[in-house]
Amino acid sequence: MKKKCWCGSQLVYDVCHEEFDKKLKYYKKHGYKVPTHKMIKNQKQVEAIKKAAVVNNGLLDYIEKNIKIGMTTQDIDDMAVAYTSSHGGYSADLNYQGYPKSICTSVNDEVCHGIPGNYVLKDGDIINVDATTGVNGYYADASRMFMLGHVSEEAKRLVKVTKECLEEGMKAVKPWKSCIGDIGAAIEKHAHLNGYSVVQEFCGHGIGSSMHEDPYVFHFKPNEKTELIVPGMVFTIEPMINQGTRHIHLGYDNDWTVYTDDGKLSAQWEHTFLVTEDGVEIISQ
Ligand code: MF3
Ligand code: CO
Ligand code: CO
Repeated sequence: MKKKCWCGSQLVYDVCHEEFDKKLKYYKKHGYKVPTHKMIKNQKQVEAIKKAAVVNNGLLDYIEKNIKIGMTTQDIDDMAVAYTSSHGGYSADLNYQGYPKSICTSVNDEVCHGIPGNYVLKDGDIINVDATTGVNGYYADASRMFMLGHVSEEAKRLVKVTKECLEEGMKAVKPWKSCIGDIGAAIEKHAHLNGYSVVQEFCGHGIGSSMHEDPYVFHFKPNEKTELIVPGMVFTIEPMINQGTRHIHLGYDNDWTVYTDDGKLSAQWEHTFLVTEDGVEIISQ
């Protein structure tokens, strides 16, 4: 009996990841930090993550269609609960380290982890809705910005540039050719070019059978070696971009919601990505 591959594909090692491991070894010898096997998903795992993504994407589409001025952030959470449960999924956020709701709703100067509640959406608000959905033990994670009514030109520009930052990060994903830190460098460059700052305390992350896995995906140029990007990795990129200072603090109302220190606006977009043999695929769209 020939040895089965470590990836769980049930294929024999020499037709599955043997060549791949040789390549990893080569890069490691040449000074690269290489990903661990745990960061490499097999086809079945990728299919499972994609199933979760279908529900998560559908949920964000549903919210996009229905979000309105006058609604509370709790109303958005209610929509999420109804949509997700009727589509065979569940929220990864609910009860995660004690998190009390099923999605995050971060308005204006809220950077992330806004907790749905009695806040009433008003004309001119910008809001990030971040959802992570599980289906049969696998997860997909994405967030979008929504602009309500008459939004200022400055806010529109922040939302647009933040989306571009995510796209720039994605463009830096080159299998066997770039490292995780290159994503951060690309994001930071685009943000600074546009006069904005990048929040450093939160990162993108590997995702699969848990919402948060390795690697740690920087949104700025890190001062350390980061993993070489290789096929089979699944991770999020989710830059939080601030209009003013990059510095942030926890609010007083709860142990979750993060605000900009200067009260200026913050925006975020997030996708879950699969690294393929020759590029990158957005799973969450
Ligand atoms: N969706 C968030 C992320 O992008 C995590 C949610 S934190 C929780 O990683 F507390 F709300 F669960
Ligand atoms: Co998220
Ligand atoms: Co995430």
